Order: sequence, then C-alpha cells, then structure tokens
Amino acid sequence: VTKRVERVAIIGQGYVGLALAIRAVEAGHDVVAFDIDTQRTSFLAAGKSYVEDVSSVEVTQALATGRFTPTHDSAELAGFDVAIITVQTPLRDGVPDLSFVEAAGSIVGAHLRRGACVVLESTTYPGTTEELLAPILETESGLTAGADFDLGYSPERIDPGNASWALTNTPKVVSGIDARSLERVQSFYDTLVDKTVPVRGTREAELTKLLENTFRHVNIALVNELALFANDLGIDVWEAIDAASTKPFGYLRFTPGPGVGGHCLPVDPTYLSWKVENRTGDRFRFVELANEINASMPAYVVRRVVTGLSARGVPIEGARILLVGLAFKPDTADARESPALTIASLLGSAGATVRAADPHVVASLVDLSGRGIELVELTVRELEVSDAVIIVTDHASFDYGAILAHASYVFDARHRLPAAAGPQVEYL
Ligand SMILES: NC(=O)c1ccc[n+]([C@@H]2O[C@H](COP(=O)([O-])OP(=O)(O)OC[C@H]3O[C@@H](n4cnc5c(N)ncnc54)[C@H](O)[C@@H]3O)[C@@H](O)[C@H]2O)c1
Repeated sequence: VTKRVERVAIIGQGYVGLALAIRAVEAGHDVVAFDIDTQRTSFLAAGKSYVEDVSSVEVTQALATGRFTPTHDSAELAGFDVAIITVQTPLRDGVPDLSFVEAAGSIVGAHLRRGACVVLESTTYPGTTEELLAPILETESGLTAGADFDLGYSPERIDPGNASWALTNTPKVVSGIDARSLERVQSFYDTLVDKTVPVRGTREAELTKLLENTFRHVNIALVNELALFANDLGIDVWEAIDAASTKPFGYLRFTPGPGVGGHCLPVDPTYLSWKVENRTGDRFRFVELANEINASMPAYVVRRVVTGLSARGVPIEGARILLVGLAFKPDTADARESPALTIASLLGSAGATVRAADPHVVASLVDLSGRGIELVELTVRELEVSDAVIIVTDHASFDYGAILAHASYVFDARHRLPAAAGPQVEYL
C-alpha cells in the first residue's frame, strides 16, 4: 500500500480522539487535534496527557514531529483531507444526546472542501451518519455527500487499561455511504491499524458497536442475576463460572460484580433500545432487563454489607466503611458512572462514614463533592479501624494479603481474594 500523507482533523480530544491523533501522527500524517475544551488543548500543547493509555512522552514526541497541532481554534481545520469526529455521545434524561455530534458536524461542515472525507467514530444509534450528520455537513458546506465528499462511520474499540489489545492491533470496522466513500475510509484506516473490516453500510457499522456493547451488558446482567440467586440457594456461583469456563466452545466467561460503569455499558445499549422503540414502537426487552439488573447491583452490595455488619453486631448507622477501588474497572482511573460512587452514596445515606482507597483516581479528576467520600491510602491502620472493607474494583496494585490479614470484615464484590479465605470474608 502506498501511504498517502493526509491533513487529518480530529474533532474531540478525549479517550478516543487523543489516542487516534497520536497514532495518526506516528503513521506520518499531519494532525490537527481540535477540542473546544481549552484546558485540554493547552495540556496537549504543553506535552501533557490527561488520558491513560496515552503517555505525556507520546504527546511530547508527537509535538516534536511538527505534525501535531492541538488547538481550540476551528480556523485551523481549514484544508483538511480527512476529518474524524470523536466527541461524546451521552444520555440526557435517559435519551440519546447528539448535540455534541451536531455541533462538531457544523464545525467540520464549515471547513469541508470538495474531495475531502468525513468519518464519525462516536458511538451512536444506527442511522446517525446518514440521517443526522450528512444533512448538517451538506447544509454547512453547500456540497453533496457522496457526489462531492466522502462520508463514513468507523466504531472505536479502544479498551483503556487493556495491555494486549490497543488501537493498532484491534481490527477496525469501516464503512462508507457509497463504494467510493468506503474505499477512501478503508484506505485511510489501513495506514493506522493492522487490519480493517469493511461492512456494507454505515448502519451496519453503527450497529456493530452497539451489538458488541449490548452483548457485554446482557451477559454481565445474566451472571449478576445468577450470583444473587446462587447466594440465596447457598451455591458458590464463582466455582460454577470457573468450571463452565473450561468448556472450549460455546461459552464465554463473564463475572458478576458491583455494577457497570464508564461511558459505554450504562449508555450505549440505550442508544439501541431508543432507536428500536422510536422506529418500531417495540421495546428492546433484553436491554431494558440488563439495565435494570446491572443498575440494581450497587444496592444489592449495600444490602449484603448491612446484613454482614449486623451479623457482627455493628449497625450500619455510624459504621466506618472502606471502599477498595473507586474506578469502574481495574487498573484505570476512570470513575465516570462508577458503581463505587453509588455504593458510597447509599452507605452514606444509611448513616455510614465512607472512605475510599484508589491510587489511580486523582481526587481532582472525579467529582467527589457532595458524595461524602474521603480518599485515603490503603494502610494497615485504615484496614484495622474499618468496620467493613468492600473490594469494589480489583486494581492489581492493591495489597490483597494485607486486606486479608488486617480487615475484620471484607465484602469481596470481585472475588479477588482466594475462595473460602476465612470467616471474615464474604463474596458477591
Ligand atoms: N472511552 C472509551 O473507552 C470509548 C471506547 C469506544 C467508544 N467510545 C465512544 O467514543 C466517543 C468519545 O468518547 P470519549 O471517551 O473519547 O469521550 P470524552 O468525553 O473523553 O471526549 C470527548 C471530547 O470531545 C470534546 N468535544 C465536545 N464537543 C466538541 C466540539 N463541538 N468540538 C470539539 N471537541 C468537542 C470534549 O471537550 C472532550 O474532550 C463516545 O461516543 C464514546 O461512546 C469511547
């Protein structure tokens, strides 16, 4: 493949956009890293990263090439060959909020030239690229999608904290609104990743991402509900899961936990169910059930801990509780929508004092205000003075031996401690 150096504009420098920008610079392209958040762009201009998986060294190296331009000035987008939109797609009042994609589309459209290419990467419901983004780009530019410029969708699959699978070695699904767009989008991503996977249209590509995340969401809900019933029946669900996982085909391992968090699972499946209901009038029952079960897990953890404390003669009112791990998944600092925050709120409302240890989560980056959580270090003393220690997120760096040795009561919501570790340990 002959590599063509493109002028690439990346709209949104979050987890997805920054990783992509750094990779595009590495691949030889000229990259304008655009964000409306001036704090983020000035961090980047100073060679500092605010995203795990991208180090400050990588940002500095990108700057040194002279081909990485972080900016909040949209005038810098002028003359782009390829623009990639990586802005957030949250829910507002339980409904998809595409205002960020719309705003990004307007900015891109204003700088769109004949022959250029636009790709949406934000996770969204099927139809967004063609029904929502294309008209905005056309109105702003006076051009026609397909005839005058190429347009496509390519879902992001980055998994922060995953040491084995990164942007480059994870196959990337690509699509276009017509054959020429697909070819353009695919040949561009072929310069960034080892393998691209073309699909027939943008809707199929949009659905691919939602299928992946809904699949995880539903399977996590399944084992969560199973864990609840297994506990009632006095059966060790973890042993059954381990045993089932030895089947070499037809089974995929998912494990119960204190609930789902982050930007994906609590949000993306609802983009799908919203679209289905909006179009067909039917409810996507699997998604609704998974939402309900996974959202109920923090309260379940709290109920179990209240019972466990009470069995030890400690009322929840006035109890001192230590949460081990605040981030929503191990070895990351991301506490967005983390179940730990809900657990802390529920415990706080019940009259407990809540402390949390998480070396990854820097206090200033998570909004702990009003949640009554004090961040502490995981010390022997902290373990000894806590009435209950809840393992919420099993970061590799925690000293689990110390937890086992010094806590009087541990509720292990991740089954991180060895099975039947002692009378002081209860498992989800
Ligand atoms: N984080 C992940 O692991 C992950 C993985 C796969 C897919 N996704 C999807 O990718 C998308 C982006 O996710 P993220 O985690 O990177 O979000 P993020 O919130 O970290 O980053 C989005 C960035 O876009 C910026 N932005 C918003 N509006 C803008 C505009 N009009 N112009 C320029 N910049 C603007 C924001 O300031 C922010 O810096 C979402 O749709 C998400 O669902 C995320």
